[in-house]
This record gives sequence, structure tokens and C-alpha cells, in this order.
Amino acid sequence: MSLINVKNLYVEYLADKGILGKKTSVHAVNGVTLEIKQGEIIAVAGESGCGKSTLAKAIMKLEKIKHGEISFDGKNIHSMNKKELKEFRKKVQMIFQNPYSSLDPKMKIIDTLKEPLVINTKLSNQEITQIIQEKLEMVGLDKSCLELYPHEFSGGQRQRIAIARALVLNPDFIIADEPVSALDVSIQAQIINLIKELKEKCNITFLLITHDMSVIKYLADRVAVMYLGEIVELGNTLSIFNNPKHPYTKALLNAVPNFNKKLQANMLKGELPSPENLPSGCKFHTRCPNFMPICECNIPPVTALTERHNVKCFLYSNKE
Ligand SMILES: Nc1ncnc2c1ncn2[C@@H]1O[C@H](COP(=O)(O)OP(=O)(O)OP(=O)(O)O)[C@@H](O)[C@H]1O
Ligand SMILES: [Mg+2]
Repeated sequence: MSLINVKNLYVEYLADKGILGKKTSVHAVNGVTLEIKQGEIIAVAGESGCGKSTLAKAIMKLEKIKHGEISFDGKNIHSMNKKELKEFRKKVQMIFQNPYSSLDPKMKIIDTLKEPLVINTKLSNQEITQIIQEKLEMVGLDKSCLELYPHEFSGGQRQRIAIARALVLNPDFIIADEPVSALDVSIQAQIINLIKELKEKCNITFLLITHDMSVIKYLADRVAVMYLGEIVELGNTLSIFNNPKHPYTKALLNAVPNFNKKLQANMLKGELPSPENLPSGCKFHTRCPNFMPICECNIPPVTALTERHNVKCFLYSNKE
């Protein structure tokens, strides 16, 4: 069953150009269609600036959308009434990259963890304390941390506290935007394992955004590869890693040291074009090693290679 359903989503920012107050459109998300299934970890991979966080913020209803539809548990998030929206805010949580800035430095840990419960529920103090203890235990901390402030913890511990805060309202869905990239390598594995445990024990659905293909390989059930605001390939993690199809996916995997010698020829050239001025046709054509004339003026269709693996590229569009 799908928990989140994104249909043909477009998100655009208006950016100041600085010249006589002129504004330009930044086409951050360009026609994303994505179904997220209950209980899965779906990863979104792609270069910096390709629209991953914008997609996440749109799903959280933190960003205005230009076109498309997003539903959570069968309900369109833009036509929810006040009560449904309140429930949605409880059920959908986010973990950010930097646990140094996501926790209020002036608040004791107990107050940081209490806050969502005080705002969103009518629970008694005793019930709140019990929930906090339960969630602290889940993330591998104990109540001795409650009277302390964020600066008294290491990065890994702070990320555990941020995760506990995301858990206090018993969410169904968590978006983790680069949850380990600000942490020491030695600590990353602990947080990655914690996310895996939460998925397995609590059946929480995750949207995982990360640059790190090894984190994706270890954690994700499926991978969506994004390029200039579009999903160019989507499939089970194993198919994406063992049988990548899109030239961009191959290039991304090629950036992982020693990942696959066969892909070595497929290096990514040049920089990501600006989303203010999107290339015509296939958006990857300006950097694609398999460029064909058709790619410059036509938009490739999405081709289903199998029931669970699809790719948006002319190399596959005629194959059944
Ligand atoms: N508030 C904003 N105003 C104008 N442009 C923005 C805004 N937020 C993001 N953008 C632009 O939209 C595009 C997509 O940004 P986004 O943050 O979604 O990328 P990302 O894939 O999350 O990148 P990163 O991996 O660096 O976090 C980028 O070109 C970015 O500069
Ligand atoms: Mg981002």
C-alpha cells in the first residue's frame, strides 16, 4: 500500500537576480511522480542542487507547489481540513543534516523533547515523561541526558536526540535529509543502524536523501535517481546497483571509488546546468556520454524495464 503519492509535481522558486529587482524562475522540481510504500526506505540520490530537499519540503507541505498533487494516506495534503492537517503534521516528521543547528541551543533536552507533545497533545506530565523515556531508550540514550543542553553532546548523540524528537509523536513517515553527512565517519554507521532498526521495529517509512551511495546501498529498499528536478531512474536498490540503466545513474555510481570497474568509462562531465535555464529535450543531454540527436529536442518517455524498475531515457524507449 502506498503511504505517499506524488503525481506530476512541479516546484518553482523566484530568485532575485539583483539587477533592478528582476526575478528569475528556478525550476527546482520538474514533474516528479513517486509512490512511497508503507514500511519502505526509499532513497533519493543526485547531485547537489538537483531538487532533493525541495521535493522533501513539498511533501512536508513546507513549500508551495506550482503544479501536481501530493497525497498522504490517500488524502491530498493541499485539501486537508484543519484537523486532518494537524494529524498530518504529527505523522510526518523530518530529520536534518546538521544536528548542531536543528536543536535549540538554549533549550534543555527535556524541553526539546517535550515541546512537540505539549503543542500537539493533551497528555499529562506523567504520560509525557513516559513517552520521552521510551523514545530515548529507542535511540540508545538514557534519562541522564534530559537536564543537559545540546552543546554538552557529541554530533552523533545530538543526532540521536533529534531523532528522538522526531519520534515522540509516533510518526508514520520520516524524511531524513542527509542524516549522517555532518557526522564523523565512525559515528555514521551507528546512526545508519539506528534508522534501519526504527524501520524494522516501528514500521516507520523513510524518505532518505543522501549523496552517499554506500549509505543508500546499506539502507534503502528502493532508489530514485534525480537529475535537474526529474526522476530519471527508479528501481529496487539491488537493480539500481547491479544493473543501472540511465547514463546518469551509471555516472553517479562511477563516482563511488572502486565500485564497478566496468563503469569507469562513464565519467560525469561538466557541471549541473542551472535550474533557471533548463536544457531542452532530455535534461541530461548536455552531459550524456550516450547523446543521440533525438535527445536534444524530445523529452524521453518513462520506460518500465520491469514492474519495479523504470528509466527515462531514449536508449530504452523502443524496447519492450
Ligand atoms: N529558497 C530558494 N530560493 C531560490 N532558489 C532555491 C531555494 N531553495 C533552493 N533553491 C534552488 O533550487 C534548486 C534545488 O535545490 P535543493 O535544495 O532542492 O537541492 P538539493 O538536491 O537538496 O541540493 P543539496 O544536495 O546541495 O542539498 C537549486 O538550484 C537551489 O539553488
Ligand atoms: Mg538538500
